[in-house]
Amino acid sequence: MTLSGKRILLIIGGGIAAYKCLDLIRRLRERGAAVRCAMTSAAQEFVTPLAVGALSADHVFTELFDRQDEHDVGHIRLSREADLLVVAPATADLMAKMAHGLANDLASTVLMATDKPVLIAPAMNPRMWRHPATRRNRAILEKDGIRFVGPAKGEMAESNEAGEGRMAEPLEIVAAIEALLDGAPKPLAGRRIIVTSGPTHEPIDPVRYIANRSSGKQGHALAAALARLGADVRLVSGPVAIADPTGATTTHVETAEQMLEAVEANLPADAAVFVAAVADWRTDTKTGQKIKKEAGKGPPALQMVENPDILSTVGHHAKRPKLVVGFAAETQNVVDNARAKLAKKGADLIVANDVSHDSGIGAAGVMGGDRNRVRIVSAEGVEEWPEAGKDEVAARLAALIAERLASA
Ligand code: CTP
Repeated sequence: MTLSGKRILLIIGGGIAAYKCLDLIRRLRERGAAVRCAMTSAAQEFVTPLAVGALSADHVFTELFDRQDEHDVGHIRLSREADLLVVAPATADLMAKMAHGLANDLASTVLMATDKPVLIAPAMNPRMWRHPATRRNRAILEKDGIRFVGPAKGEMAESNEAGEGRMAEPLEIVAAIEALLDGAPKPLAGRRIIVTSGPTHEPIDPVRYIANRSSGKQGHALAAALARLGADVRLVSGPVAIADPTGATTTHVETAEQMLEAVEANLPADAAVFVAAVADWRTDTKTGQKIKKEAGKGPPALQMVENPDILSTVGHHAKRPKLVVGFAAETQNVVDNARAKLAKKGADLIVANDVSHDSGIGAAGVMGGDRNRVRIVSAEGVEEWPEAGKDEVAARLAALIAERLASA
């Protein structure tokens, strides 16, 4: 019961993703949390207060001026009698109200009146999420200390559009809540740590690109684990389909060159961990037009050029962090290859994945899968870790990084 005794005020906004809140309430209560809910009037168009009340086993608050509610629990008390406020789904409208201090209904008033941490799970149409107004509001909210979980990329419920804007899944929101409410020690407080994650996409022309199977799961899990230990995490992520991890500041990039630029923009840092599967090459063609298939011409010859090695650049940088960690995907001579990489790339540690078929997980299993088996290679030697979930590997690696930085 990881949330035993915790009181969560869940503010449900008016979006189709509101239905996921029913599951969220259940998941939170399973973990021992007391969940009290407030719904905007738009939210009640998507789920009924009856269903929300049945699952939360509490009165559901819907009105700012409700004689019954005011008499019983006013909006000030509502906002103070919680350990955490969670807004899910956080619509563009709710975000705008929060950013600008509007308080014209129960939800927005409670959010203005609170002195408790606030976590929001945005959900909206991808165009609305990309709109400059939403971007401005997001920046304001981040500056105000509001924490975000998601949104993720995916299909939108109401249209055939895909893109960023889908609400984080209930279990991701639960994980973000657990991370926010845990009172564990913060050995990485005050440390800035850069993490790269995911694949890169190298364009061939405006519609085609070269990519790889990296899902970003290991890098994102590490970013979250480092944030849980109190680090100021700067995640630079290639294109992935998973939500930004809670507690980290995420920059989204597409290509290796953009990734390097975003990493350098975050220097100086105390540590940098390069989990991303960066494409080693990009095409040299600088074409703004789609390459056409022409009869008799045959396939185009793609001229490739090498991408910058981000790990190696930072490993030899004038602003090199105290601790530089790389990853290596190997199928043979895992340790020897990792050792060679240490020296060549200027890293202190290499986390070597055995992606060979007989590792039991295999390349297809590690890349995109949920489990990993790694060896930690450093000048001091090799440490073999048992196969585990990527979250567990991340937690252990975060602890090792904390230890290394403490003794550096
Ligand atoms: N890396 C990087 N920039 C690149 C290529 C790799 O930062 N352009 C980083 C990766 O994030 C990872 C490590 O370098 O930390 C992996 O190095 P790489 O030389 O690509 O090794 P492998 O993927 O193991 O492959 P190989 O040695 O077989 O090329």
